[in-house]
Amino acid sequence: MTENPQQEMDALIESLEELDRAYYIDGKPLVSDLEYDRLYHRLQQLEQVYPKLKRPYSPTCRIGSDLSEELPEVSHKIPVLSLDKAYSASDVSTWMHRTAAKAGGSLTFIVEEKIDGVSIVLYYEDGILMHAVTRGNGYIGNDVTGNVKTISSVPLRLREPVSLAVRGELYLTVKEFEQIASGQDIPYANPRNLAAGTIRRVTSSAVARIPLRMFAYEGYILGSGSTPASHWAMLSYLHALGFPVNSRTALFYPQDMPQKAQEVPPGWVVGTFGDLEDYIRRITAERQRREYEIDGLVVKVNELDVRDRLGFTGHHPRWAVAYKFEAPEAETDIKEITVQVGRTGRITPVARVKPVKIGGSVVSNVTLHNQDYIQMLEAAPGDTVAVSKRGDVIPAVERVIEKGAGSSPYWIMPERCPACSTELVKRGAHHFCPNDRCPDKISGSILYFIGRNQMDIDNFGPKTALLLISMGALTDPADIYRIDYDRMLSGQGGFGDKKIAALKRGVETSRKRPYKTVLASLGIPEVGEKAAEMLIEGGFTSIDALLEASRKGDVERLTSIKGIGEKLAEGITEALRDPVMLRRIRMLQEAGLSFSTVQEGIRDDKQIFSGETWCVTGSFINFKPRSQAEEEIKRRGGKVTSAVSGSTTRLLSGEHPGSKLEKAKALGIQVVSEEEFLELIK
Ligand code: IVH
Repeated sequence: MTENPQQEMDALIESLEELDRAYYIDGKPLVSDLEYDRLYHRLQQLEQVYPKLKRPYSPTCRIGSDLSEELPEVSHKIPVLSLDKAYSASDVSTWMHRTAAKAGGSLTFIVEEKIDGVSIVLYYEDGILMHAVTRGNGYIGNDVTGNVKTISSVPLRLREPVSLAVRGELYLTVKEFEQIASGQDIPYANPRNLAAGTIRRVTSSAVARIPLRMFAYEGYILGSGSTPASHWAMLSYLHALGFPVNSRTALFYPQDMPQKAQEVPPGWVVGTFGDLEDYIRRITAERQRREYEIDGLVVKVNELDVRDRLGFTGHHPRWAVAYKFEAPEAETDIKEITVQVGRTGRITPVARVKPVKIGGSVVSNVTLHNQDYIQMLEAAPGDTVAVSKRGDVIPAVERVIEKGAGSSPYWIMPERCPACSTELVKRGAHHFCPNDRCPDKISGSILYFIGRNQMDIDNFGPKTALLLISMGALTDPADIYRIDYDRMLSGQGGFGDKKIAALKRGVETSRKRPYKTVLASLGIPEVGEKAAEMLIEGGFTSIDALLEASRKGDVERLTSIKGIGEKLAEGITEALRDPVMLRRIRMLQEAGLSFSTVQEGIRDDKQIFSGETWCVTGSFINFKPRSQAEEEIKRRGGKVTSAVSGSTTRLLSGEHPGSKLEKAKALGIQVVSEEEFLELIK
């Protein structure tokens, strides 16, 4: 293939590194995608033929591995401390002046964006990425090297053979997070959660599919290399070595040292101490417009020798402070973690927290989504946590602030269903109760069926449903249409004749709900009103068509519909093969509910007789008994009375009409023959 494979491979790596850097760091691609792919594949080919010659920093490492690897614990070579906090622009300004005075004046400060992502420490030896470690408790973190290697903006090899540690933040852009979140059912509430969940995955090929990015913000030269004199020089050096560095960075200097303004890289904001507060206020106002989320600003002493003199407290450096934006967030303690069983059997852990006020409402239950999410947070009862509530979104545990004394590393899902003691099974990230007769699953599907966004049955609320469930009368949503309400409810506390009659009326009218609503109420996972509409518009105008596709496992027919992804399609076909679901559908069909849009054509659209009062007389060829003709009128919105009167609008007259015809003629009421009637209702 080649005379000196190692030489060719190294040359390819160098070219690809240069192209990667131009693309990911400088944002200026040098060649076409096609040309890039050509070089990449050539390298891949050579590595396959000569696996022993493959370099550990080869760009082909970025695709990750499907092997499941544990995340071993490793000690940090540098203490990975956190920051002291300030809560107002004037607090930051006070801190800055005080720190400058303590250090003996003539200091400058760097202000960086505080990226709301996941902290990472990268260790390079002789310019090669050896370890990537999470922050952990500051002394020990998890080794996530394989995962971090998949991130395109993290250099695998530096442009100089230096040994150093780099602290940075891994993050996702808001746009990319939203794209990922909209396409699938993920429990992550924001880009940071998804980034944190991703970096802890055990298969790095899954990590490679999430477009994580990085900013480097601190560097520590290890070994013999010399350290730059200032933070801005360190950031410039990191950039020169190949790291992405955030250019939205500012330098502030004392009024009497204008020469300091000349020292910073192009693009940076420069100002005097007096400008700091305004700068903070401006960034705070602008923060929603960033392509990534920031949760504050970090103010740092620029002169590195002064940093050394100021040193650390046990918890944070004395040379930096974090200004945190106000967030709809509150601190509280997890009292206990309980689990809820949903209608699909999905188990959701819920943190019962000490009631706390967030953005105007009191929160005491907070979802924890699933075991993986809890592991990502490392949360357990007794821990102090940050809870957020953004707009209408359900409250979420954002992170653990402090582990409780003696609390376990993280809470673990019970092995059995709390409602029926059946052993739980894990599918994907979630645990499920597989028992079809699980009482919580049954009540969940019934409460869902009658819910406001589904069948919305008038005068049939959760209380009534739970009462009927406890009486054993209601074991499936379909029972709603079979229960003898008079017998079950009269005499029950609070149920008078009037209330029972109203409930029965509610049930009756709900029988006429359109197919779309019925489909959305069945309890097929992830199929609510919107998915039901997409299915119908995509050609599944009847349940039979859907059942047919499910029986055949024809997932592709479903995914051919815009908006229906593979996961959703698989969920639908699986649900529609489930015997409990099939029985439910059959019983609801028997109860006369709508299972196709065609049926609805007659029932809902052509209310041609509404507002009319009909009388029917004589005998008919096509309507035997005569009541069949009366049904046809009622179905089209007309009223039928037994005698002709002043309010009668039309008389349907068959053979041998008798006196009614005379009366109608006398009153000038329109008379309709059987033939004309057939024409009308055609
Ligand atoms: S400096 C000792 N700079 O905020 C140096 N941190 O508690 C401390 N963060 O865990 C970190 N952007 O994950 C620093 N520009 C920035 C940052 C930043 C985000 C995170 C970091 C750290 C937390 C501070």
